[in-house]
Amino acid sequence: MHTPYRILFVCLGNICRSPLAEGVFAHLVRASGLDVRFEVDSAGTGAWHVGEPPDPRSAAVAKRHGIQLEGAARQAGAADFSEFDLILAMDADNYRELEELRESVGTPRAELALLRDFDPEARDDRSVPDPYYGGDDGFDRVFEIVHRSCVALLASLDPMEGR
Ligand code: 4NP
Repeated sequence: MHTPYRILFVCLGNICRSPLAEGVFAHLVRASGLDVRFEVDSAGTGAWHVGEPPDPRSAAVAKRHGIQLEGAARQAGAADFSEFDLILAMDADNYRELEELRESVGTPRAELALLRDFDPEARDDRSVPDPYYGGDDGFDRVFEIVHRSCVALLASLDPMEGR
C-alpha cells in the first residue's frame, strides 16, 4: 500500500474556485481508478464563508458535467503545510497569502504552486479568474480552466502514466 498523495486546492473564499477544483480532480481520480492514491481537500485564504457549502453557481456548473461538489468552506492555515504534499493556489493573490503562511512553518512538507502552472493553455496569466462577482459564463470559463489543468495535473502525478 502507498501513502496517499495529499493535495489542497486554495482560493479566496473556498466557495467558488477551489471546491470546483477539488471536485473535478476527485472525479478524474475516481474515473482513473486511482482513488486510493490521492486525498484532496480545499480551503480559502479568507474566513468570510467558513462553514458554507459551495456557491450554487459552482455546484451547478459541476453538476452539468456530472460532478457533485461536497464539503463546507474552511480557512487555510499553517498546519496545512505539514499535512499536504502539494498546495495549489488558484491565483497570484492566494499564492502570496499562502507564502506568508508557509513562512511561519519550520520545515514545510507541502510544495506550493499555482494550479495553472499545469494548464497547457496558460500563457502569461496563470491565475484562475475570480468568478464571484460576475455572471454564469464566468463559471463555465472557470470550469474549463480548472478541468484542463486538473487533467494535466493528474497526468503529471499519475504513477501509471506512459504504461
Ligand atoms: P472563491 O470566490 O475565492 O473562488 O471562492 C470568492 C468567494 C467569495 C468572495 C470572493 C471570491 N467574497 O468576496 O466574499
